[in-house]
Amino acid sequence: MKQNKRVGVIIEVDGNLSKVGMYNETNDSDYIWYGDILTGPKVGAYLTINQNDVKIIATVFSEKIIDLQNDVSNDEFDNTFSKNSIKRIISLKVKGVIENNNFHVTSKYVPMIGNVVTLTTKDELNLIYGIYKNELTVNIGKSILEEYDINIPVNRFFASHIGIFGNTGSGKSNTLHKLYKELFQTKYAENMKKRSQFFVIDFNGEYTQENQFALSDEFKKVFTINTGKCGGQKLPILKDYILDADILSILFDAKPGTQVPFLRNAMRTYNEKVRNSASTFGQMEIGLLKRIIVSHKSVNANSLYDWVEVAEKMNVNTFLLDKLKKLHFYNDYGNLKIEDGYIDGEQLSQYGIKELKINEIEDDVISIIEDSSEFEKLKYFLAFQRIYVSAWKSTNLEYINPLFKRIENSLNSLEKVIDLVDNISDSYAFMNIISLADANQETTRLIPMLFSKMIYDDHKEYVTSCKTVKKTKHLIIDEAHNILNGQIRRNSDDWQDYRLGIFEEIIKEGRKFGFFITIASQRPSDISPTIMSQIHNYIIHRLVNDNDLNMLINTMPTLDKFSFQMIPSLGQGEAVITGNAIKVPILVKVNKEKVIRPKSDDIVLTSLWEDIDDFSTWL
Ligand SMILES: Nc1ncnc2c1ncn2[C@@H]1O[C@H](COP(=O)(O)OP(=O)(O)OP(=O)(O)O)[C@@H](O)[C@H]1O
Ligand SMILES: [Mg+2]
Repeated sequence: MKQNKRVGVIIEVDGNLSKVGMYNETNDSDYIWYGDILTGPKVGAYLTINQNDVKIIATVFSEKIIDLQNDVSNDEFDNTFSKNSIKRIISLKVKGVIENNNFHVTSKYVPMIGNVVTLTTKDELNLIYGIYKNELTVNIGKSILEEYDINIPVNRFFASHIGIFGNTGSGKSNTLHKLYKELFQTKYAENMKKRSQFFVIDFNGEYTQENQFALSDEFKKVFTINTGKCGGQKLPILKDYILDADILSILFDAKPGTQVPFLRNAMRTYNEKVRNSASTFGQMEIGLLKRIIVSHKSVNANSLYDWVEVAEKMNVNTFLLDKLKKLHFYNDYGNLKIEDGYIDGEQLSQYGIKELKINEIEDDVISIIEDSSEFEKLKYFLAFQRIYVSAWKSTNLEYINPLFKRIENSLNSLEKVIDLVDNISDSYAFMNIISLADANQETTRLIPMLFSKMIYDDHKEYVTSCKTVKKTKHLIIDEAHNILNGQIRRNSDDWQDYRLGIFEEIIKEGRKFGFFITIASQRPSDISPTIMSQIHNYIIHRLVNDNDLNMLINTMPTLDKFSFQMIPSLGQGEAVITGNAIKVPILVKVNKEKVIRPKSDDIVLTSLWEDIDDFSTWL
């Protein structure tokens, strides 16, 4: 029977550290053993401690030599630290146990003096790296020490929230891309496209190339959000979702005292009455105009002027508005100057209606509204609503006016990048890349929040109504520190607070609904601790900043000290993987894709300068 390679014997056990007295000639870095190349007993490597039927798995923690006692009494013959007087000792830290062909983490067994230590075999490594037979996995690279293929179990890894961290240039984007590219090539690829959807929020436009994630255009949509002159693709967003007082309050940064209630009332009327009917819009605003004129003695004298101004903004025919404008002269009492005969009791007279061209104005308003975009319609409606709440002095305009500047700005910039739709089920593909590289700062702040909340709410509603999770959604955010910054919360900015709240809710509750987040970031310490602590699986590339490292140690229960100490000295593409999906942290070198990879390669200055054959580059 094939015997395992024996390398030493336990000579001391102290707490969770054990010492092994090594046999002679066990100091090689690798061994060939029955055709397999096994890693020698160096720091970080696995060794197996044999105790009856149980195999205790440990990693090498430190290595040293001790001197055997010098048995010669005379100083002249001191032979300490000479060829035959030293012994190699290594310390081991127990990681878990292989029992009944299964690796698990337990403290049930401890090494005992006299236990024989052997090199860990490939079969044992298989069990340690947590791969069960028949389990679907994706390969992402090789372990650094053993050069052993590292396969990640699909179920336990991708049905979880994933964090990818590392300094700039350490390989995060490549790893992220590699993970999902491999996932899309498993044998379930066909059905996956019917049941799952993926969304990448791409701040730098790294994933917009053809064939990215090895997906053809049939299964992929790229939305290049462009706020500049060139224009890009607009992002489909649900109408119901935007036309909501809470969302608008956040978008317009409405203050709780007067502005939020104003928006709430306005949106109730808008959604119930005027959203789907241009004629109701027309009747309502013309009704307002009539009331202003009829109650000219008690109305806020500016109201008429304001009404006409909004109508002018809407491009209502100026010729029609002419007479109305002339009413805006005050009489001796500071009231509007209304000609006799315009008013009949509590109403405008037929004569007044005719003279002031009220019906024609109404028709014009209706036809303009019919041709307006939803954003324009909303803008006009809110402007009229402002007149409505202030005409009889029930609301002080001072409190509302500042809101209107923001409404104007927000709606104008949103209109450039958002397409309001009634239904998003056909708007998005299997994989969707939302590139914000060409978007201005405000849009970059806004879109990820709006979009994430929308797909989360939509998915949650779907799952709750079906009562089972039949579909999953996966939200992938590269450069996540841009939007998940926990520091800003301390500056008590409502808006940021709300945004973080959304992502915190997703990360706390999403799993139940089959909604999973993957975030990649250079600065884990900047990310809100609530979010960090809910991540299930981590891939950590090189990180050197102390704050970031401390954040990791505080939020990652599965990270061991050895792996932690390796983080600052990892090379490009090398990473520690740890978390629920795997039993022990793994040091891995992620395979770099040769052709299809994110647009994020290091710039090689010398080759940039070397071959300039294209003169146009000078222009
Ligand atoms: N697994 C890998 N093996 C070898 N080189 C890699 C690997 N992954 C990435 N690289 C190289 O490292 C460089 C940076 O990679 P990448 O863009 O993935 O880093 P990043 O961590 O996302 O950086 P940033 O924080 O700036 O976005 C690229 O030149 C890439 O080719
Ligand atoms: Mg990157």
